[in-house]
Amino acid sequence: MKYRYLGNSGLLVSRICLGTMTFGMEGWGCDRSTAIAITNKFIEEGGNFIDTADMYSMGVAEEMLGEALADHRRDSLVVATKCWFRMDETLNAKGLSRKHIFEAVDASLRRLGCDYIDLLQVHGPDPFTPLEETLRALDDMVRSGKIRYVGCSNYFGWQIAKSNGLADRLGLPRFISGQHLYNLLRRDIEREILPACAAEGMGMLCWSPLAGGMLTGKYRGHEKPAAGSRVGLRAEIDLPRYWNKDNFQIIEKVVAVSEITGKTPAQVALTWLLHDRRVAAVAVGIRTLSQLEDSLEAGDWDLPDDLRQQLTDVVPFKPGYPHEWIELSWENISGMEEFKPWEIQKGTG
Ligand SMILES: NC(=O)c1ccc[n+]([C@@H]2O[C@H](COP(=O)([O-])OP(=O)(O)OC[C@H]3O[C@@H](n4cnc5c(N)ncnc54)[C@H](OP(=O)(O)O)[C@@H]3O)[C@@H](O)[C@H]2O)c1
Repeated sequence: MKYRYLGNSGLLVSRICLGTMTFGMEGWGCDRSTAIAITNKFIEEGGNFIDTADMYSMGVAEEMLGEALADHRRDSLVVATKCWFRMDETLNAKGLSRKHIFEAVDASLRRLGCDYIDLLQVHGPDPFTPLEETLRALDDMVRSGKIRYVGCSNYFGWQIAKSNGLADRLGLPRFISGQHLYNLLRRDIEREILPACAAEGMGMLCWSPLAGGMLTGKYRGHEKPAAGSRVGLRAEIDLPRYWNKDNFQIIEKVVAVSEITGKTPAQVALTWLLHDRRVAAVAVGIRTLSQLEDSLEAGDWDLPDDLRQQLTDVVPFKPGYPHEWIELSWENISGMEEFKPWEIQKGTG
């Protein structure tokens, strides 16, 4: 297993993060004993970064994780959770108000059986609560010792920049990480969110790195997914998100690269993400022990540059305006390239 710093923080995390959305999930998830076996194996194999959320199976995932954690050294692990989703029918049991953040943190700590959370991520933006109220509540949680670091998830690029700018101005903790949907089939965050996180010194934790299983090669697009499969069970979400011609072209290439390298399609898809150093870790969704063993191999193995490029190029990602306007005059705008003197004179450097 290789480890990376989570953004500009001093926190070292395994580049494979154990996601727990499957824990206790009916239909496409796993039961308590499998969840505990998966967590034990992940830690034994050198994983230290675990992601959960209060709303995964409405608290049951945190409880299962807590049961597993009881047998391990808490201080050796980085436990991340989230709040934002509605947790019960009472008026304020949702969002990022001061009241809900305080209550959500206490409830997560109870379920996890822990004294503190390493990384509390706000699960999404709350359009009704002033940002300052949220950031001050997170600061109080850090000062109380209940959480160590804060991160965000599913924020727009401008919200990421605004949050950390405001945190700086008020002397409050900055977000150290973003957790966003990112995989070979959905590259939306390359447009604004990934550059925003990098500019803010935040590490990216990718969710759904295998596109719900599409990138394992088990769905090949000849017919609709079987009713009992994960994509079949979540058809309302996953079909509009992933099921199209371009994506099946990419999946064919992932399978071809897996044959060339002797790796599995999942390992190829995970390491395509990890090749980008703006990505700190991938949150793997695991239903069985053998899936965990398979995905853990991506903790050590790196996809060769040329094959990575071939996968990137199957269906070129179009970042749109204003990228295309700027690129009329500048050949690239990432700021990471090196140039020959005549390129600078031409004005393209
Ligand atoms: N912040 C957010 O809003 C957000 C949203 C979603 C998820 N997440 C986080 O991201 C984690 C991962 O999300 P995800 O479950 O959607 O991930 P994913 O990587 O897109 O999909 C995981 C699914 O792929 C299949 N799979 C996994 N490893 C495999 C392997 N090696 N070989 C074959 N099939 C394999 C399993 O489904 P089957 O076996 O059923 O086919 C599994 O449920 C979650 O646990 C959670 O921690 C966060």
